[in-house]
Amino acid sequence: KRLVVLVSGSGTNLQALLDAIAATGPEAYGAEIVAVGADRGGIEGLARAERAGLPTFVCRVKDHGTREEWDAALAEAVAAYEPDLVVSAGFMKIVGKEFLARFGGRFVNTHPALLPSFPGAHGVRDALAYGAKVTGCTVHFVDDGVDTGPIIAQGVVEIRDEDDESALHERIKEVERRLLVEVVGRLARHGHRIEGRKVVIQ
Ligand code: GRF
Repeated sequence: KRLVVLVSGSGTNLQALLDAIAATGPEAYGAEIVAVGADRGGIEGLARAERAGLPTFVCRVKDHGTREEWDAALAEAVAAYEPDLVVSAGFMKIVGKEFLARFGGRFVNTHPALLPSFPGAHGVRDALAYGAKVTGCTVHFVDDGVDTGPIIAQGVVEIRDEDDESALHERIKEVERRLLVEVVGRLARHGHRIEGRKVVIQ
């Protein structure tokens, strides 16, 4: 299977996928990353892709007249690589109708909280501020909401009294990277069906 990964920042989830595929071999893992895209340039996630010898692309909202035009341009840029599966690994933009029309049902996101709790751009900070005792990460299919799509897998992480946002996020990311590698591999090696809110991986 062909994967396109979208990033916006450090790209450690991308790196975990790259390392897993290199260690396992693309055949056994079931997939290879064919390109990495971002909504901004100059980020470590793109540098990681370049170091791995992968094609990269940048699709900036500000380069397009409207959000819809950006969404269509992103869909085009991704479609050029003919992916079987698109993975948002820390991609911090909400895609629109055009993108979902083309990749809905095969566009996976990872979120650093236990959805439906704490959706959005500050899930780690929100769980901490709320005083939750456990949080975690969620890998889910992207639908037309914000972090509302059908859940594929979740991992639990305890919140410690001494945690600040970055310490907690780092601990979540340790679980998240393993979960994403496991889920993407399963989706790549087996088919999947989405029945309402239920994800069935054969
Ligand atoms: C991940 O925790 C992801 O869930 C969140 O931002 C982080 C991205 O980390 N949206 P990285 O860029 O993969 O290191």
